[in-house]
Amino acid sequence: MRKLFGIGILALGIVAFSVPAMAADGAAVYKAKCAPCHGADGQGTAMAPAFKGSAWVASTDDAEIGTVITAGREGAAKKYKQFAMGMPKQKLNDDEVKAVIAHIKAMK
Ligand code: HEC
Repeated sequence: MRKLFGIGILALGIVAFSVPAMAADGAAVYKAKCAPCHGADGQGTAMAPAFKGSAWVASTDDAEIGTVITAGREGAAKKYKQFAMGMPKQKLNDDEVKAVIAHIKAMK
């Protein structure tokens, strides 16, 4: 019984330590790759739309948002005419895309 308890604690410890090490840091990805155009807090800039308070971000599923991030949205695909440039496609792995989507969805 005691031994089992010990193994349980050990397993919990492994999970607790390995999860943060493996998961991409959405805030760090955002700061490095998105903040210059979309604003440090997702408030938007003269170059790109806001995520904060965005009905589109709140109501769109992750797969579609992920496509905008990895494929970009430029030229004829552009949605906002007030921004001179489009959304350049981003080189991110699946974990980074997932983490950055969670980060922008949390900007309210
Ligand atoms: C060089 C500037 C630039 C960078 C860097 C950039 N974006 Fe964008 N992004 C834009 C512009 C401009 C648009 C609007 C495109 C349009 O007119 O449809 C946009 C649109 C978007 C949209 C769609 C928003 C909407 O309301 O339809 C998402 C989601 C998005 N960007 C996510 C990101 C993420 C995540 C990153 C970082 C990994 C990032 N962008 C980096 C310029 C940028």
